[in-house]
Amino acid sequence: MKRVLVIGSKGRLGATLVAAWAGKYSVASISRGDFDLLRFDVLEKLLLETDAEWVVNASGLTSLEACEEDPQLAYLTNKEAVGIMASACKKTGKRLIHFSTDYVFDGEKGAAYGEEDPAFPLGTYGKSKLEGERLVLASEGKHFVFRVSWVFGIGRPAFPDAVIRNALESENVRAVTDKWSSPTSAEDIAGWVSAVIEKNGTGGLYHLSNSGACSWLEYAECTLESAKRAGIPVKTTAPQGISLSELGTLSAPRPKNSVLATDKFFSGFPVRNRSWQDALDEYVVKHVKRAVSKITAR
Ligand SMILES: NC(=O)c1ccc[n+]([C@@H]2O[C@H](COP(=O)([O-])OP(=O)(O)OC[C@H]3O[C@@H](n4cnc5c(N)ncnc54)[C@H](OP(=O)(O)O)[C@@H]3O)[C@@H](O)[C@H]2O)c1
Repeated sequence: MKRVLVIGSKGRLGATLVAAWAGKYSVASISRGDFDLLRFDVLEKLLLETDAEWVVNASGLTSLEACEEDPQLAYLTNKEAVGIMASACKKTGKRLIHFSTDYVFDGEKGAAYGEEDPAFPLGTYGKSKLEGERLVLASEGKHFVFRVSWVFGIGRPAFPDAVIRNALESENVRAVTDKWSSPTSAEDIAGWVSAVIEKNGTGGLYHLSNSGACSWLEYAECTLESAKRAGIPVKTTAPQGISLSELGTLSAPRPKNSVLATDKFFSGFPVRNRSWQDALDEYVVKHVKRAVSKITAR
């Protein structure tokens, strides 16, 4: 059995990776409860000493607003800690899989972004993530960087969970019309990354998302339709469209279009992709419905 260490194992993606790989790999995990990743000496020692063959970094300072409020923390977490991971793994011949983001792009391209497109992040989150991924790729450790977008998964509530929670309480659900990307299932990411581990490829930068793209409004509509079909008692399936500027609650800059082109990955690895709608529908039925019935049964 291959030995895999997941860093950031209590986050949205990390928790899903740990759950999906239990029994398939010998999985060790690290979360904030074990130690703060900014204790770089502890981090480096652990990575030099672990017997894991693959190290998967799903940690990060992922709140865009938190990154703007504390840029130093953003760079320490999203760049410096990642640099330590890349060099310690390189020194000991371990393979690093690191996750980055569609928010490295400025959103001005009128089409999906490929891996070769120049990255011009708008805010501190995207800038710090871009510097982190560059350190991984520059370390020549045969490491992988996967840029993912709009991830939903079991570790922590995401957009679909928030939309359903709002629609359980009120008929007035609002969602943004002028921002587009591709919702992506963390469970699907676990399957795709598994194929990478099995194939033992040479490393590099790849874009990964479910297929298709949508606005936040379409994402909300599809979520609420799935919820209704699953028997979740939402009060509306027709959210009201508003513009990003009207929303007013998100202060950090965000790209309008950050759809990722994923042909490089899906033509290179023996895995299938599926539409974001199918992946979302499964998530709502499997996870959100169960969470909602626990709340309503109390
Ligand atoms: N979610 C998305 O839509 C999305 C989109 C594009 C890219 N990504 C990338 O995918 C990866 C996973 O994202 P996610 O949504 O799963 O993020 P998440 O839910 O925020 O999880 C990140 C984890 O990292 C941990 N962490 C952060 N700083 C730490 C520190 N100093 N010491 C120890 N642990 C620390 C967090 O712990 P605490 O909770 O205790 O802080 C959290 O458990 C990230 O690299 C992110 O940039 C995510």
